[in-house]
Amino acid sequence: MTRETTANIVWHPTTVTKEDRQRRAGHKSCVIWFTGLSGAGKSTLANAVEYELHERGLSSYVLDGDNIRHGLNRGLGFGAEDRRENIRRIGEVAKLFVDAGVITLTAFISPFQEDRALARSLVADGEFVEVYVKCSLEECERRDVKGLYQKARAGEISHFTGISSPYEEPDAPELVIDTGKLTVEESVHAVLAYLQQKGIV
Ligand code: PPS
Repeated sequence: MTRETTANIVWHPTTVTKEDRQRRAGHKSCVIWFTGLSGAGKSTLANAVEYELHERGLSSYVLDGDNIRHGLNRGLGFGAEDRRENIRRIGEVAKLFVDAGVITLTAFISPFQEDRALARSLVADGEFVEVYVKCSLEECERRDVKGLYQKARAGEISHFTGISSPYEEPDAPELVIDTGKLTVEESVHAVLAYLQQKGIV
């Protein structure tokens, strides 16, 4: 069995830097970290924001929980340890994308404060924009777009966030988007306004 270690591994700085890539792209890069319950609207919002960024000619990419769990994180489940590993890997991937000069949008439930804090710690100050996609459990369950809440209530899915696994609300997110109150258009506007205000776009 291989032991996790970085002994004897030396960091090699790249010749082309993040700043060089950002200069070429014409904008800064960052992680826009959408967190919230299943069905809160993370993927919808991430994709709608990316559409606007793309239309403006900016470099962007969406990392989405459902998609990443088909590939890179295939095999990880929904117990606390696997969720931690899921978010750790995404934090590392997001860091690489930021280094590549890309505005990176992540859409993961990421229910645990500690795991989100780790993802935040991987990038520089100001490069992590935590967006709490706020929506009550009742409303998410009413939407039940994928039919998962019904299955979870029936006991067919274990460790389901909000039902049989906790969701820890962010303490101090950069943005709170209440999708029970705002339209997608209004939500996108709020995210873009924040990025503009911070000089990211
Ligand atoms: S996490 O908590 O961040 O590791 O989860 P994530 O990688 O975002 O994956 C969430 C999507 O997986 C589906 N799904 C579940 N969600 C929560 N709990 C359980 N047990 C579960 N099983 C499957 C569900 O489609 C989630 O997608 P979203 O887009 O959040 O609805």
